[in-house]
Amino acid sequence: MAKNQSALDVIVSLAKRRGFVFQSSEVYGGLNGCWDFGPLGVELLRNYKDAWWRAMTLRDDVVGLDAAILMHPRTWEASGHTDSFSDPMIDSKTSKKRHRADTLIEEFIQRLRKKKKTERADAIEARLEQAREAEDFYNIIAEEEIPDPDTGTCDWTEVRNFNLMFKTFVGPLEDESSAVYLRPETAQGIFVNFKNVLDSSRQKIPFGIAQIGKSFRNEINTKYFLFRTREFEQMEMQYFVKPGEEMEWYERWREERWNFYLNLGFNEDSLRRKEHAKLAHYANAAEDIEFHFPFGWGEIEGIHSRTDFDLQRHQEFSGKKMEFVDTVTRDRFVPYVVETAAGCTRGFMAVLCQAYNVESVEGDNGKSEERTVLKFHPKLAPIKAAVFPLVKRDGMPEFAHKLYKDLQRSFTVQYDESGAVGRRYRRQDEIGTPYCFTVDTDSLSDGTVTARDRDTMEQVRIPADGALNWLRDKLDA
Ligand code: GAP
Repeated sequence: MAKNQSALDVIVSLAKRRGFVFQSSEVYGGLNGCWDFGPLGVELLRNYKDAWWRAMTLRDDVVGLDAAILMHPRTWEASGHTDSFSDPMIDSKTSKKRHRADTLIEEFIQRLRKKKKTERADAIEARLEQAREAEDFYNIIAEEEIPDPDTGTCDWTEVRNFNLMFKTFVGPLEDESSAVYLRPETAQGIFVNFKNVLDSSRQKIPFGIAQIGKSFRNEINTKYFLFRTREFEQMEMQYFVKPGEEMEWYERWREERWNFYLNLGFNEDSLRRKEHAKLAHYANAAEDIEFHFPFGWGEIEGIHSRTDFDLQRHQEFSGKKMEFVDTVTRDRFVPYVVETAAGCTRGFMAVLCQAYNVESVEGDNGKSEERTVLKFHPKLAPIKAAVFPLVKRDGMPEFAHKLYKDLQRSFTVQYDESGAVGRRYRRQDEIGTPYCFTVDTDSLSDGTVTARDRDTMEQVRIPADGALNWLRDKLDA
């Protein structure tokens, strides 16, 4: 995978052309920070979510939940989002454009580095680290005369905090008494249901609750395709443990989550762990799993040991006990929480970037040609197999169509009879279909078909009536 911005453009364009992802409301000029998943995208996304769901819940100690997106506004007071879920923003008085103050400085540093002004870039970077601690970005922008990238002028407003939660109203009255927020994370739906799940399931501490769902953040700067969007999906799991046992579970979940990505075909070189240099006030350990996107490293998941902060706050704000009572020891405590918080749509983008390959291969005419291939893990591939008749005559289409229909009862498959067979293979490579079956003259006499592997491009002959089991075995392997 090429590691620069234009490599990302190529992937975005393939994603659109082949029906993975479209800009939201594109016919009206698009809506920034929102994306739609097309026919292949929706399959890939479902497979990715399914892989996570199975990894997290096919075990004794984790159960699922699907909480509402709209929650009681007190939830966000308790969690701290109403007061402090904000980004520092600054407006240019000339272009009237709004920027995230820290991003504006980061991008200025990048521009300096490109121009080889390393000393100045280093100096501003060091100031930026201090500014993050003090949450004071204005002085750097003013003193370093960081210009508006659109106009080159340096005429800025003060830096103000901008709450990232989307506000809306329940019922017919649009006043503060009816104001609610679209959830900015799925986690709080889990915390407020902790007692419900505990009381209604046979779980005991330690146990976890897993959830996949939409979250919304009114990001000031949306960025890099699906990386930072305003509407996105998360896959979160909160694991409730006895105080004092959280570090053991934190270590276990760090390993589990790292292996999840390796098991889905992520290359170890394109992943790294990043420990948080500065912990949130409620956390006693935290690390991110980062993926090397075409634009650089970016977080795809956070693993956090959050102490009992969230349950204590909901206990305080709701007046309802959030305790676990051990029936044997009679111990009573508010559990500590280890959280695994993965981005689903951001992870989808990582899957797409990881899978994207351009290779030089031998074409039908013996000459070398380029093929674009999405090397998805077969479990994630949106289409599991394609069926082709070699030519559109002599009974081959009928034979191939019957095989296609047989496979379709169990898997997402495509039938294609148009163009040279080499071109049909390329079309499937480009959408990441791991296997293709081709029906030819021999098929009609001996009932066999050619099975072709996407990655090795090797072909083997197998009985057509064994193709379903052959495919199942391959996908299960
Ligand atoms: N409950 C903890 C929590 O929400 P987070 O680090 O803010 O933690 C978890 O979010 C994951 O959600 C991130 O690692 C990222 O993959 C994804 N995510 C967060 N904001 C996002 C955005 N604006 N667009 C796409 N994905 C986002």
